[in-house]
Amino acid sequence: MNPVNHVAIIMDGNGRWGIKRKNSRNAGHKAGLSVVELVINESIKQKIKYLTLYAFSTENWSRPQKEIKYLFSLLESFLNKQSDELHKKNIKLKVIGRKNFSLKLNTLLSNVEKKTSSNKTLQVNLALNYGSKTELLNAFRKLNKKKYKITEKNLIKCLQTKNIPDPDILIRTGNTKRLSNFLLWQIAYTEIFFEKKLWPDFNKNDYIKIIKIFKNIKRTFGNV
Ligand code: FPP
Repeated sequence: MNPVNHVAIIMDGNGRWGIKRKNSRNAGHKAGLSVVELVINESIKQKIKYLTLYAFSTENWSRPQKEIKYLFSLLESFLNKQSDELHKKNIKLKVIGRKNFSLKLNTLLSNVEKKTSSNKTLQVNLALNYGSKTELLNAFRKLNKKKYKITEKNLIKCLQTKNIPDPDILIRTGNTKRLSNFLLWQIAYTEIFFEKKLWPDFNKNDYIKIIKIFKNIKRTFGNV
């Protein structure tokens, strides 16, 4: 049985869910946040060590200002309300992506990262203003600047995910089969699960089912 160490998720479908149910994309984001909490708790139960959540991509800046503002206010209130709880649950929070938000949000994110930095039960990587192409370009720039040899090992050291093992499982909800500039280097041998349900409808049983299927897959990593 394959161990599950790292799960990465593209939480797609909030907007469609919100429009369908409440005629508001933002209502979908709000509902999506409850699923984030559910998946964090179930990951702990399943003894998963890393959970990477794609919360805002470098491309998401092209969305309407109102939606962007709402997403960050949701994140801010989540951190304000949940940071003690995250810490109590021994969860480490790490941001991947460039923190170029308001001073208030940047400080809040850095404070929670600092406060939870020694926690060991589960590391939650929040991909915020994250794009895989930017991450790779910056890694190559760093190698070039430091005059390091371009090797796989050196490149990995320059990625934002250094010290984080590659995902075993990638889940994308929302009935769309694309990777949307997410962890392109890191998912070279990841098992990918495309889920028809929209993110706010994704539940504990769906998550457990995927983990169960994954555990029984024969992973060959190019071997036979
Ligand atoms: C993609 O769905 C989802 C996002 C861009 C945001 C994800 C945010 C959350 C799950 C809630 C907030 C999370 C935290 C950690 C505070 P979409 O809006 O592209 O959906 P669509 O494809 O239906 O338009």
